[in-house]
Amino acid sequence: MRVAILISGRGSNMAALIEACRRPDYPAEIVLVISNKPDAKGLETAAAAGIATKVIDFRGKGSRQAFEDAATQALEDAEVDLICLAGFMRILSADFVGRWRDQVINIHPSLLPAFPGLETHERALQAGVRITGCTVHFVRPEMDNGPIIAQVAVPVSNRDTADTLAARVLTYEHRIYPLALELIASGKARLVDERVIVDEDIAEQPALAVPPLTDAPR
Ligand code: GRF
Repeated sequence: MRVAILISGRGSNMAALIEACRRPDYPAEIVLVISNKPDAKGLETAAAAGIATKVIDFRGKGSRQAFEDAATQALEDAEVDLICLAGFMRILSADFVGRWRDQVINIHPSLLPAFPGLETHERALQAGVRITGCTVHFVRPEMDNGPIIAQVAVPVSNRDTADTLAARVLTYEHRIYPLALELIASGKARLVDERVIVDEDIAEQPALAVPPLTDAPR
């Protein structure tokens, strides 16, 4: 499966996907990284890994359409089968999501449908949840919404700040994004009636076990 990754910044999830794709038996390859920000750190990481990169930088009025037209052209030219959003900070239009229907997945640092949108960890702490986590899902036009492919629950500590919680959740993001991509690319996870059905019992995947707080980075 030919995969493109869309980023806007650091690109640590992108790096985790690139690393996973190095495995000879991994069923996907990253053929293109697109950033909407010229200074995204992840661009250097991708280039250093020998992956083609493209900056599509449009701002202001009409920029969404211009961005999406240029992105679709680049994705078609690269014969991309699947698009992974990884810290990509633009909202995609219903037209774009329709053009790439069931071919766009995203990672979000909460147990969706709880806490969609920005400032996820601040809001999780504010709500006093004992468990948060991260989710990989198919993209639908509504933000942070769509059929769930994989989730990991991550415990919250009394001592957590938004930063410590974000750092802990991120370590698990780096595990489930490669796993979710593998499930999709291998055909072990499929969309049926707007739910993702997984051949193997996904709960038994060690990467998806709920980690004890004592094991978590502090
Ligand atoms: C991650 O927490 C991801 O879940 C969210 O934005 C952050 C991006 O981090 N959508 P990185 O660019 O992958 O390091």
